[in-house]
Amino acid sequence: MKKTIRDLALTNKKVLVRCDFNVPFNNGEISDDNRIRQALPTIKYLIEHKAKIILCSHLGKIKSEEDKKNNSLAPVAKRLSELLNQDVIFVAQTRGQELEDKINSLQSGEVILFENTRFEPGETNNDEKLAQYWGSLTDFYVNDAFGSAHRAHASTFGVSNYVEDSAIGFLIEKELDFIGNALANPKRPLIAILGGAKVGDKISVIDNLLKIADKVIIGGGMSYTFIKAQGYEIGKSLVEEDKIELAKEYLSKAEGKLVLPIDSVCASEFSNEVATKIYDNKEIPSTMMGLDIGPKTIALYQDLLKDAKTVLWNGPMGVFEMSNFAKGTIAICKALANLDATTIIGGGDSAAAAISLGFADDFSHISTGGGASLEFMEGKKLPGIEAIADK
Ligand code: 3PG
Repeated sequence: MKKTIRDLALTNKKVLVRCDFNVPFNNGEISDDNRIRQALPTIKYLIEHKAKIILCSHLGKIKSEEDKKNNSLAPVAKRLSELLNQDVIFVAQTRGQELEDKINSLQSGEVILFENTRFEPGETNNDEKLAQYWGSLTDFYVNDAFGSAHRAHASTFGVSNYVEDSAIGFLIEKELDFIGNALANPKRPLIAILGGAKVGDKISVIDNLLKIADKVIIGGGMSYTFIKAQGYEIGKSLVEEDKIELAKEYLSKAEGKLVLPIDSVCASEFSNEVATKIYDNKEIPSTMMGLDIGPKTIALYQDLLKDAKTVLWNGPMGVFEMSNFAKGTIAICKALANLDATTIIGGGDSAAAAISLGFADDFSHISTGGGASLEFMEGKKLPGIEAIADK
């Protein structure tokens, strides 16, 4: 068991908290502040317990000076300060005198956010000197950046070696409770729903979930590689020819656990502007492509899901961004919203789909991690969590 912030004697201590404030922007404005909101319980707890709070995060991928201009955390400090209803001191540096002075003059309960950790070239390769420097600024280190916990970077991994003590925050604790329990100790039946475009992106998740789940339901673009592997023609639908043999292997070893869609909403082009028609997956014409699961599949999946006690979902059922191909994903959202079960969305596109389609409050848990929750569901250890001190 990892230490949590409840295990630290926080009063008057400097606490460096790694958050995941990698939020989307539109025209310079934060377009979704969910990741900032999800960090609030930890920050508020630290304020209440009179710690001196130093926050850090990455934002975007930084390859040039231009990227730096577009990825400052200053707007995040502003939003956070509105949400906390308290001043958040923004320091436009990742190291240096100003940062050190501001930290040294912090009063208990005050909050600093310093600039994007990826402005430091040593961040992503876990540069030891950088990790040591950030460690030298604080007494304790708290990792609450679940979305970045699969990265062994200086601010998510290395820094924990250079502090007095370390712990996970409430967001990581919550993510571990939901996803970790669903994987290790689920109420059964456990049904996994896997969608998205490519089998290639989900191989290790399919592998792991076939071992753990009672059923693995497939949807999205990746289903057509499986359907082709069954020997059917799939028209112009997305297919990964180099994954067909693998798909065959899964089909033979899955012993009926793997459930494939039986019909599709098809169109002649990848477009919301052309006519759609429903075909059984055994007979998609050569001029058409499947872009969503069809009504027979929806009925089949609703029926399979109705007795589930735990559901883990990663990846949309169709091209939900286009209204003609959103019905399958909406139907899954509705089916899960009405279940008496623990329902978890493992981040990424399916989380974006559920939120944009208006189902954000209908799930037990929507993960804040995309890549991190995927790696977690693959059964991998996450370095950002492994690095934290044990109880
Ligand atoms: C994410 O958005 O998945 C996390 O913030 C990690 O970002 P990264 O893929 O740029 O490391």
